[in-house]
Amino acid sequence: MLRFASAIVLASLWVGCCVAQSEGTAKATPQFRPQVHFSPQRNWTNDPNGLVYFDGEYHLFFQYNPFGDEWGHMSWGHAVSTDLLHWHQLPVAIPEAGGEMVFTGSVVVDEKNSSGLCVDGKACMVAVFTGDSSPASGHREVQNLAVSQDRGRTWTRYAGNPVLDLHKSDFRDPSVTWNEGIHAWLMTVALPNEHEVAFYRSADLKDWSRVGTFGPDGATSGVWECPDLLQIPSKDGRSSVWALKVGLNPGSLQGGSGEQYFLGSFDGKTFRRSTAAGSHGWTDYGKDSYCAISYNHLPTGERPTLLGWMANWDYAKYLPTAPWRGQMTLARRVTFVRDRDGMALSQTPVIAPMRVGAGEAIAKELAGGRDSAALVETESPAELVLRFDPGDAESFGVRLYSDGGHWTEVGFDRAKMQFYVDRTHSGLEVAKGFLTRTNAPLAEHRPFDVHLVMDRSSVEAFAQGGTIAMTNLIFPPTEHVEVRLVRKGGHGALKVSGRSWKLRSAR
Ligand code: FRU
Repeated sequence: MLRFASAIVLASLWVGCCVAQSEGTAKATPQFRPQVHFSPQRNWTNDPNGLVYFDGEYHLFFQYNPFGDEWGHMSWGHAVSTDLLHWHQLPVAIPEAGGEMVFTGSVVVDEKNSSGLCVDGKACMVAVFTGDSSPASGHREVQNLAVSQDRGRTWTRYAGNPVLDLHKSDFRDPSVTWNEGIHAWLMTVALPNEHEVAFYRSADLKDWSRVGTFGPDGATSGVWECPDLLQIPSKDGRSSVWALKVGLNPGSLQGGSGEQYFLGSFDGKTFRRSTAAGSHGWTDYGKDSYCAISYNHLPTGERPTLLGWMANWDYAKYLPTAPWRGQMTLARRVTFVRDRDGMALSQTPVIAPMRVGAGEAIAKELAGGRDSAALVETESPAELVLRFDPGDAESFGVRLYSDGGHWTEVGFDRAKMQFYVDRTHSGLEVAKGFLTRTNAPLAEHRPFDVHLVMDRSSVEAFAQGGTIAMTNLIFPPTEHVEVRLVRKGGHGALKVSGRSWKLRSAR
């Protein structure tokens, strides 16, 4: 049935070879190198930092260890792009200094020199980040500033640091934006152990006063990190809602690190969660999306854009890639929907510019009694947009085969009312428990559609109008993707239509 049958033995040998290598010699793994996602040339990365658009460039700063492929010496790495897809890595922007690591934070564009830190009457970039250190007095996290006069290429720490110090060991990840409502800078920052997000305001980025807090609420079984507050337009642009997202580690829906969101209102001081259904959800229902933050200073008309770290703290240090370890999700434009099922965030990945040609149309009907049919043969990176008309099928979806023995299944399970991505048979077992299925609750009235982006070591899925995002790493034995329509249960026909594209590499 599958043309890969003869490759199975070879593939399993190959899988065996690389588990051993990643534990010892860290042999290069170009077969897993992301083609449409950002990954640093070498070394470790975790959270994205300081996402900002300025002077024709999207900046991506990121938690980075300049000296190795494990977490440590945290500094801000730096890359720029004009399309959120082709990234050009630049030298380290803000290095660890004086025993203080540079943790997660944000960058704003100070157009009017409100900080007094810009020179020559030109707008400058100001980074607001957590300094993490362990002086004799104990572990401490404070908020610091650095300024760049040359489009983020070089940075100078502010002499008056820290600008905010609660004398606490855990107080981190400031997300700063200009808030038009209060006509001031607004900082959203985590009190991880209290399960609280604090809001501060400032006129000059230096002097901050607390105006409110939110939490505990929702899931609180781990620490709260990487908060972000965004105003999200509805799909038709006629209304908006405030979304407060916050990372949770461990204890997320899928285990380990993950992110929840709250929808509601914000008056410049207080975030009030809506009482409507759907006001609490998960920014991503997969295992591998954490600490997503939104772009600051986007060109007018561009929708809020989130980008996250594609890994899970449960096993990030075992990821079998070299000479880099860590990659980012695609950028996702965010809107919100309000329908019969309630409210929800909806995410659309930025990927269309990478499509090769017009793609291939898909239209297939699986007669009752048949349980699978070939749809497309391609190789990663590739994209699929599908809509199912399932008839009475109990569960249905697609299997993405990389060879006869390895596949990832993406589907809708109506018996359990779940959308799922099953990577149980996907390839390398990075750590115990890695090979698993992730599930999201299905909304009753939303369509059975799915948008998939498959890269060399990941599958990002957006289902039910983008209201479910599900991001999972996979380490398959080949880059082939043989897409088969699959189903279980039911007697009638199952129909699917859509399109597939081979994607260009951004490397
Ligand atoms: C989240 C996090 C942040 C912190 C950074 C350190 O992944 O723990 O809270 O700033 O990573 O690298």
